[in-house]
This record gives sequence, C-alpha cells and structure tokens, in this order.
Amino acid sequence: VTEHLRRSQGGTQDLFFPRSAAGDIPTIVACDGVYLIDDRGRRLLDVASGPFLATLGQGNERVPQAMLDQGRRLTYTYSRTTRHAANAALSERLAGLAGPGLERVHLTSGGSEAVEMALKFLRQHAVATGQPERHRVISMLPGYHGATTQTLGLNGDMAADALWGPLTVSSEKIPAPLTFRAQSPEAAAAASVAALEEAILRIGPEQVLAFVMEPIGGQASGVNVPHPAFGRGAREVCDRYGVRLVFDEIVCAFRTGRFLAAHHHPDVRPDVVALAKGLGAGYAPLGAFLAPAALVDELRDHGLRRLALLRRQPDCVCRGIGRPRRDRRARPDGQRGTDGRASSSRARADRRPVPARRRHPRARPAPRDRARGRPDHARAVPG
Ligand SMILES: Cc1ncc(COP(=O)(O)O)c(C=O)c1O
Repeated sequence: VTEHLRRSQGGTQDLFFPRSAAGDIPTIVACDGVYLIDDRGRRLLDVASGPFLATLGQGNERVPQAMLDQGRRLTYTYSRTTRHAANAALSERLAGLAGPGLERVHLTSGGSEAVEMALKFLRQHAVATGQPERHRVISMLPGYHGATTQTLGLNGDMAADALWGPLTVSSEKIPAPLTFRAQSPEAAAAASVAALEEAILRIGPEQVLAFVMEPIGGQASGVNVPHPAFGRGAREVCDRYGVRLVFDEIVCAFRTGRFLAAHHHPDVRPDVVALAKGLGAGYAPLGAFLAPAALVDELRDHGLRRLALLRRQPDCVCRGIGRPRRDRRARPDGQRGTDGRASSSRARADRRPVPARRRHPRARPAPRDRARGRPDHARAVPG
C-alpha cells in the first residue's frame, strides 16, 4: 500500500495538496513518542509537533484507552437536550485552570470553530444587550485564525483575500507588533496599539464588536512574541470603546509554562479566549472558547444559538480530561495542583518527584519497554 502511495504520489489524498511538494513527503506508518516512522523505516523527529499540537507525543496509550472506555460508556448525546458528566467535568477543569474572569467553557470540534463560535457569542451578546450595530471585527496582519468561511476573513493574509474575499466577511486589518526588524519591540507595540485605535475610530466605535489577536503568534507571524505593552495597550483601547478583546490561544495555550499565554500578563484580561491544538493534542478534534460568567449569564434567556451537532463528543471530552499531570500543574498563578483534586490520593501521587528519566523524554530516542513491548514514553504519563 505504501509503495503504491509513493508511486501515485499519495493517490486520492494528495489531490488536495500542491503536486510540486507531493513527491518528497514521507508516508508515515507508525509513531513512537516524539518520533514518526515512515514506510522506509526511518525515525523522524517531529520537531514542530505537527503544526504545534502533538503536545502529549504520539501513541500515548493512556489517551486512546480513556477514549475507548468513554466511547463504550457513552457514545453520543445531544447537548441541547441532555447534559453529560464527562463534558461538564472537562469544562470545569478548563475553567479552573483559566481562573477568574473565564468561568464558562464552550467546547467545539477544533480551533476555527472555537474562534467562530466566540464571535457568534459576542455578536449575540451585543444584540441581547442593546448594541445591535456592533458587528465589525479587527484582526492583525499577519495572523491566522482558521479555515472556515468566517475565519478566513480574519486571517492576515492579503493574498488569500483575493481568493476568499467574495465568499467571506473580511475583518479590518492592523499591522501586528512584529519584533523582527522593528526599531524596538516597544516601538512595534506602540505602533500597533495606535493602529488599533485608528481603525476603531475609522470604522466608528459603535460598530466594532471585537479585536481578535494571537497573544503569541503562530506560523503566520514567525511565532512573534509582542512586547507586553501591546497587550496592555490593546486592552485599554478596547475598554475605551467597548470593544471585546479576543485572544486566539489556539497555538500558545499549554505551551508557555502557564495554562494560557494570557496568564503571563494578568493585567491584560481578554474577554474571550479560544483554545484547540494542545487540548486534543492530535488524538481527537477538540477546541473550546472560554468566556466570563458575567457575559454568558446575560444570555440566559436565549442561550447560544446555532450550535454544531458533533461538538463535544464524549470521547473527545474524555481525551481532554485524560490530560497528564503536567497540565494539571500549570496553574494561572504558576502554583501546582489546586484544581479540586489537591487532597486526593491522585494529587498526592502527582506531587511525588518525577524520575529524571521521565522529565526529559526528548533528551533521548524513546527506547522500547522490553518487558511490555511498548514505547517507554507510554509510561511517562501516569494516571
Ligand atoms: C492561531 C490559530 N488560530 C486558529 C487556528 C485554526 O484551528 P483549526 O485548524 O483547529 O481549525 C489555527 C490553526 O493552525 C491557529 O494556528
């Protein structure tokens, strides 16, 4: 099969990718921790962890096992008419990690949907609170927010605008505070904050619904880390004109030593945060947006309208719940393990010292666990 794939340059699947690149890409047949194994037996280090998402490594046995258990227990339930325990538990856990101001969690099937649902939520909130004229969105150039028809319009990629422009609603774009080649990171931050205010005034503040930004950039901006003055300035400008600040943390959540990149700057409180990638870690399509209880509760008479059917499947939810202990430690305040399990025996087990061999799984190729015939890393995530 793999020889056929190579000769036919990927066969049916590659029709969706540029032909020029198809000849060289490896066909992956297996995985082992941080390695991908191709059909020629090569072990390839997955340096970028896919597109920044395989945060738990490959083939972590605990995850598919938890998904299987959950799938047997409950395969699907319609969230409009039922509530399910696994779903509620994951939401609670995420809200606990996010901390005050982000108490409500809406699960989705990925990142684009998380951003899109966040905007739908904010639009519905604006209408429900007597501001129906608020509908315009501002985002940054360069930037990336998704592949659905709505999020395509937010992406800071003018070439894409030529293709998708007629199909989507393009946001107003301001320059991202790129530190690369800037006079200084502070100057880049100040210029972007000034551009944000200008854009709001140009559009008309009463029409602007939200400013969507990546607090730390992804691929589009070369993982740009703006000067902290940018987040603070953006927050001030948004507050001045009643504009909601949306953090797209689809790349950077789970990856900076704190649960959210926002937690590094507690004075910049986003109104809404979108998550995905590390939440499902490649095992399942899973995303979420987090929002303040105060805003969500104002929609209590209407609820959030137009939800997708296959969001928050219990097996995906279970995957999220099955996060390894390292994530449970990532508290907003940098402290460990106070997510409601602190006094449980499991939490106590979590506080035991981690053997050095397990602390640095990337420091060596994952050797096989000979006794059990499975990759060593599979044991590196205790239950
Ligand atoms: C910053 C950012 N936002 C949104 C998305 C879209 O997420 P998804 O591909 O899960 O729909 C991505 C995906 O790469 C992203 O990097």
